[in-house]
Amino acid sequence: LGVVGLGRMAQALLVPLLEEGLIERSAVRAAVASEASALRLAQELDIQVSTDPARAWAAPVVLLAVKPQQIESVAAPAAKALAEAREATPPGTQPLLISVLAGVPLRRLEALFPGRACVRAVPNTPALVKAGLTGLSWGEGVGDGQQEQVHQLFAQVGEVLHLPEPQLDPFLALTSSGPAFLALVAESMADGAVAAGLPRTLAQHLAHRTLAGTAALLHGRELHPGQLKDMVTSPAGTTAAGLRELERAGVRSALIEAVLAAAERSRQLA
Ligand SMILES: NC(=O)c1ccc[n+]([C@@H]2O[C@H](COP(=O)([O-])OP(=O)(O)OC[C@H]3O[C@@H](n4cnc5c(N)ncnc54)[C@H](OP(=O)(O)O)[C@@H]3O)[C@@H](O)[C@H]2O)c1
Repeated sequence: LGVVGLGRMAQALLVPLLEEGLIERSAVRAAVASEASALRLAQELDIQVSTDPARAWAAPVVLLAVKPQQIESVAAPAAKALAEAREATPPGTQPLLISVLAGVPLRRLEALFPGRACVRAVPNTPALVKAGLTGLSWGEGVGDGQQEQVHQLFAQVGEVLHLPEPQLDPFLALTSSGPAFLALVAESMADGAVAAGLPRTLAQHLAHRTLAGTAALLHGRELHPGQLKDMVTSPAGTTAAGLRELERAGVRSALIEAVLAAAERSRQLA
């Protein structure tokens, strides 16, 4: 496995694979931009990390996880290493490129990295605690065996969905930007509890647990969110008073617009 760009997202994916022994440490060739990162990560993860991406690109499967604006700078070394990558790839298949770059469409990947079968993956940050969601779209020429390989890779850190590429923008808006929206909800609810008299640390802990417990209940009982809301709203009770304030402030509409804006931004970046 070659890894080009070993930042937060690539580490979130790679570390569980290494820890569970699903990939040999000696089989990973990673590349980063700075010597300092290379030294630190090689020591921390006990894998080969270099600032020269040639060896990473020579692998039959490459995970590309640089920032979207850095994509042009990594294309030239990829082209140079293509022959070596072909030699290492099983006959009848092309070397595989798995990109996690937000907003970079398959057609751009295929134009920048000719000779490689491309996969666009949209993982999210809860992958760090193996509670991630990843959307996958396949480019031209990705074999069945390769699809299974990519599915298994992301399945180590959560649930995997195969989606048509146009659905990846709203998928990203909900699942990748969503954690920030929900973190804002948790922070604001904790602020409210502090305003009502709870100590800050306790308020934050309770807000996080409430969010996690609510998600577990919705998921575990397969409830519609409206059902759960009605379950905890008694006539003339505390929840009804709070919900009235949320409706007055237009919180539903604000969240709908937030997801729409994130999806639109993803399309613009493409
Ligand atoms: N974080 C998320 O929640 C999330 C979710 C979905 C998708 N993504 C996507 O994941 C990608 C990476 O995001 P991130 O948050 O992991 O970024 P990050 O932490 O900034 O990592 C970027 C990595 O790329 C390396 N790099 C930069 N230029 C390079 C080059 N020319 N050759 C080789 N390596 C190079 C950096 O090395 P240095 O450390 O030496 O600078 C660093 O290891 C982005 O495209 C983003 O859209 C992220």
